[in-house]
Amino acid sequence: MGKLALGVAVGVAVATCAVAGVVVGRRLRSRRKWRRVVGVLRELEESCETPVGRLKQVVDAMAVEMHAGLASEGGSKLKMLLTFVDRLPNGSEIGTYYALDLGGTNFRVLRVQLGGTRSSILSKDVKRQRIPQHLMTSTSEDLFDFITSKLKQFVEQEETVSEAAQSRTRELGFTFSFPVKQISIRSGFLIRWTKGFAIEDMIGCEIIERLQAALMKKGLDMCATVLVNDTVGILALGHYYDADTVAAVKIGTGTNACYMERADAIIKCQGLLTSSGAMVVNMEWGNFWSSHLPRTTYDIEMDMESPNPNDQGFEKMISGMYLGDIFRRVLLRMCEESDVFGPVSSKLLIPFVLEMPLMAAMHEDDTPDLKVVAAILREKLEIQDVPLKARRLVVKVCDVVTRRAARLAAAGIVGILKKIGRDGTGGITGSRSRSDAKMRRTVVAVEGSLYTSYMMFREYLHEALNEILGEDVAQHVVLRTTEDGSCVGAALLAALHSSSSSSSEGLHRRR
Ligand code: BGC
Repeated sequence: MGKLALGVAVGVAVATCAVAGVVVGRRLRSRRKWRRVVGVLRELEESCETPVGRLKQVVDAMAVEMHAGLASEGGSKLKMLLTFVDRLPNGSEIGTYYALDLGGTNFRVLRVQLGGTRSSILSKDVKRQRIPQHLMTSTSEDLFDFITSKLKQFVEQEETVSEAAQSRTRELGFTFSFPVKQISIRSGFLIRWTKGFAIEDMIGCEIIERLQAALMKKGLDMCATVLVNDTVGILALGHYYDADTVAAVKIGTGTNACYMERADAIIKCQGLLTSSGAMVVNMEWGNFWSSHLPRTTYDIEMDMESPNPNDQGFEKMISGMYLGDIFRRVLLRMCEESDVFGPVSSKLLIPFVLEMPLMAAMHEDDTPDLKVVAAILREKLEIQDVPLKARRLVVKVCDVVTRRAARLAAAGIVGILKKIGRDGTGGITGSRSRSDAKMRRTVVAVEGSLYTSYMMFREYLHEALNEILGEDVAQHVVLRTTEDGSCVGAALLAALHSSSSSSSEGLHRRR
């Protein structure tokens, strides 16, 4: 009996030790896996760091590249494109104008009635529609047929019978938000596509000709008076409301900026005469590049696998089209490193599967147990039962990716301010000290879903702007959100350059 008891006791002890061993082993293994996942996050944080010193280097690089892009054609990755917009709406515009806005995920048609006094847009009707995916890579004929048929429907719905009976040709501003080499305010050639569009037969083509041909095919009596980039529309609307507006930034599916430049500073276009002595320059800042940008292996891989490798480097770090995919790549790496998130979901292998609004929703999930994160992981990425501490890690990844984007966008904005001498340092030469440089109120119009609908992005951008400029200078810089500026602004510019207005066909130059 004694022996038996001893045997049982030994057996129990051995079994207990074995179980304990298994438990300890499992714990060690799971701790190791956890450490590996945290390691991925740490590495990401380090490679995305944007201390203010680095941001200032980006500011300087932006201002230097702006000079280079203005000095000669091809002098910089920043194209610094002429827009032939030499004056901006001031509120005196009057009449009914249309706009077509093509450039991102959505396509918009607008009709606006202008009352002739600042802030009196009498009525504004906008119709938004998602561009069907297949049209982004189809033919120019398909794309223009689609947009003009939507325009036709819109015109027929919006106009009263008496308006429709008017004999006057309707005037239209066309917002086409891609890099375009303009030769006048109403004529330009597509340089290349961005944001996932890839319609080969359009490259190098004159855009307004295509549009007019499609309008004619639809029997629409309309004339495209101006061709503008979305940022130029935003600047026009910003200026319509506030004459201190000097620049405009868009941070949506893609990103870009434009600003009013002195004509004599546009050296690549010697002898350019404008009525105001200035011209809006479309920077195409999405293509900005500098060795000071904090680039990660995820950025490099995404770029290599994108339809436009080596292009739009800044855009790929900042804009809505790409942030979700950087996040996806980080999460995939975490899943490959350990099974904290369960087996690797096949969804995670699909490029661009996670769109920016979902990433923003995870980032801004304020439920105590991160319910929104769990739901998006489950429903969109098919990653089930993720423990709370791993969900917290997901939020952190969103934070790192978004914070870097917002801070770089802020540095870009200060780069423009520096170029035009509004950053409080006396411009690019830095000849005046902060204290003796008199700061004028400076307004930058901003649009795009990242800025308008993603609170965290916006907060990080403002925070970085204050850090770079310092409180004293930052208080003179106002970022002002406009609404539908890309198309309302195009309609305003159409009014300003209308065939019925006196100086409609001013500037142009040879291609
Ligand atoms: C285009 C720009 C545009 C920006 C924002 C970029 O991809 O190249 O022309 O302004 O997106 O829509």
